[in-house]
Amino acid sequence: MPNPIATLRSVIQFKSFERSAVERRLAHAANVDDLRRIARRRLPGGDFDYIDGAAEDERTLHANADAFAQCGFVPRVLRGLNSIDTSATILGKPSSMPFIFAPTGFTRIADPQGELAVARAADRAGIPYALSTLGTRSIEEVRAVSDGRLMFQVYAWRDRGMVKEMVQRAAAAQYEALMLTVDTAVLGRRERDVRRGFSLPPKIGLRTFIDGAVHPSWTLQFIMNEPIRFANVVGSDKGDGASPVNLSDYINSQFDPALSWADIDWLREQWDGPIIVKGIQSVDDAVHAADIGVEAIALSNHGGRQLDGAPAAFSLVAPVADAVGGRTEIICDGGVRRGSDIVKAVAAGATCAMAGRPYLYALGAGGERGVDRLLQWFQGDMERTMNLIGCGDVAGLNRSYLHL
Ligand code: FNR
Ligand code: LAC
Repeated sequence: MPNPIATLRSVIQFKSFERSAVERRLAHAANVDDLRRIARRRLPGGDFDYIDGAAEDERTLHANADAFAQCGFVPRVLRGLNSIDTSATILGKPSSMPFIFAPTGFTRIADPQGELAVARAADRAGIPYALSTLGTRSIEEVRAVSDGRLMFQVYAWRDRGMVKEMVQRAAAAQYEALMLTVDTAVLGRRERDVRRGFSLPPKIGLRTFIDGAVHPSWTLQFIMNEPIRFANVVGSDKGDGASPVNLSDYINSQFDPALSWADIDWLREQWDGPIIVKGIQSVDDAVHAADIGVEAIALSNHGGRQLDGAPAAFSLVAPVADAVGGRTEIICDGGVRRGSDIVKAVAAGATCAMAGRPYLYALGAGGERGVDRLLQWFQGDMERTMNLIGCGDVAGLNRSYLHL
């Protein structure tokens, strides 16, 4: 006669109670979409929508992800692979994966550590991180927490003296490359922000007060930490967030809509290292950038936040790679949500991929540990995907693995 107690005992296994609330939250997340859902619950609605939202009908936002979804693999089998190497070379230097964390402004609205958390996680994982001009931690603060690869994203202030000064600071702090963003002549119309009257830093009015009250842990952290400032701008006359600003008023008055190719020559004179032009959205502009010797281009529509109707970043990779023929490195930026998307970008012809929102969702869901988790997933995804398509290293990835 079987003993039911013994049978039961053989299958019941209680996990020891996880004391960390962050770990308990992250235990229920398996992908970026899960992190997004947790972040949506935890962050005040205005902050979440600023991060998650995009321009107008958000068609380009969705197109970025759809372009990856519509591309399937052509798996090869029986290849005798016993190890997979995801390491890559980006701008002549090693990276554990062909992947960069994209610059995002105001990162501290997702987590009080903000850019410091992102830089530390990127350093631990061995990938480069690009700090935004509109970061809420300064060039120097970020360098102080990372021995890893750092890039500095440049916006073209009308006041070029300001750009020059920031570039000098980036050089002094041993940032290795500048990433000049060229898709923001004016700010895109993010209608979620318009509806909410969203400001940066987020201000506390009656509506946001209620929003904050139903998100107590974020609000408590916000109050317990130093105020959010545009850290690279502090001390200038440009407005550093000490009083909240409407982002489109701020950007449209401070940034130069007349930026042109000639400004890249000017930037060259200020900077010895590589220049990445971020926001290339056509084959012709990609060719022009290669012609003038730009070291890398980021095929990017700013995560769909600027021109709605701009092409999906991934859809440009193959035509641009064919047209530039290896004369400039290609970064595919927008819609990357899994390591398999990184594999697709590289197989289509990119040097590497880049992403912004995934680490912001991770921060909102679980702070720095959330970002670590995200990078572990991407690493695991890449290894598993390369195993399953039968390609052992990044250099071996090519279009024969894709149904483009
Ligand atoms: C951005 N992005 C951005 N780009 C830039 O050059 N400077 C910046 O300050 C910002 N700020 C910013 C804030 C937020 C909240 C987001 C979501 C994005 C664009 C970013 O670098 C990148 O192009 C996109 O995030 C890529 O799309 P995914 O990965 O978010 O789909
Ligand atoms: C944005 C700006 C900061 O996309 O680049 O919100």
